[in-house]
Amino acid sequence: MATRHFLSLLDLSPDEFRQLLARASELKKMQHAGEPHATLQGKVLAMVFEKSSTRTRVSFEAGMFQLGGHAMFLSPRDTQLGRGEPIEDTARVLSSMVDAIMVRTFEHEKIEKLAEYSSVPVINGLTDWLHPCQLLADMQTWQEHRGDMQGKTATYVGDGNNMCHSYINAARQLDFKLNIACPPGYDPDMKLVEAAGERINIFRNPKEACQGSDLVVTDVWASMGQEEEQKIRERAFADFQVTEEMMQQANDDALFMHCLPAHREEEVSTEVIDGPRSVVWDEAENRLHAQKALLEFLLA
Ligand code: CP
Ligand code: NVA
Repeated sequence: MATRHFLSLLDLSPDEFRQLLARASELKKMQHAGEPHATLQGKVLAMVFEKSSTRTRVSFEAGMFQLGGHAMFLSPRDTQLGRGEPIEDTARVLSSMVDAIMVRTFEHEKIEKLAEYSSVPVINGLTDWLHPCQLLADMQTWQEHRGDMQGKTATYVGDGNNMCHSYINAARQLDFKLNIACPPGYDPDMKLVEAAGERINIFRNPKEACQGSDLVVTDVWASMGQEEEQKIRERAFADFQVTEEMMQQANDDALFMHCLPAHREEEVSTEVIDGPRSVVWDEAENRLHAQKALLEFLLA
């Protein structure tokens, strides 16, 4: 059987996606109750990080340990990857020794190449193009708070980046409507938008985009690797801060999410992120449970 990778949410069928969310909530209950769930004994995950991380690293490392396996952190600074060893060779070597490889990198093509040459599952821990693991946690959080998302509406305010692209794929897989509010020049990829069909609507006015929404979500204005664009982006996104006024446009029981790390008073006001509709801490915790479900799905 061909090796299953998780480079994109589209690597799961909608049924598999839903099953994975159910298992994530189950694993969360077991974890909270202190029930052992060592389903991956003896399994090893290699984690290659070419960008910084708090949540992704800690959730994968703690998750593997809780499942009875082991995770190792590999940084380009002290592996041969950083000295130019080809990705194909790295993939072949790592996959002869470990059971899965998680990668956080820049170009999406790099993780695709690694997957092509890997005989074990490769997991996308964020590329410039997509952040699918984050969406497993976001969808788990939404479902835990409000039930199934089919037919509901989410609004993504901000940059048409890796998070926005992953929301588009999630809308397509789980069949919810997605309003996207971004300034001109910062639109998401139109091929992804078109593939998700009529569920997606692009707005220039973020308040309008929030009307009738069940979930409002945003992300940083300058992603990792775009630090030098910070000032230009601050100007471009000045009207796109998620504020209480914006949240008022959404439905009364609308939730707020942010993948974190957040910049208070930039993409979101302190009032909103630290306010009663914000579920960002549940969302962050669910990275652990959702990825444990993913690891089981790929490895058990
Ligand atoms: N949300 C997220 O991926 O966080 P980290 O960059 O800390 O891993
Ligand atoms: N869009 C952000 C997400 C961080 C988790 C970035 O790529 O830096």
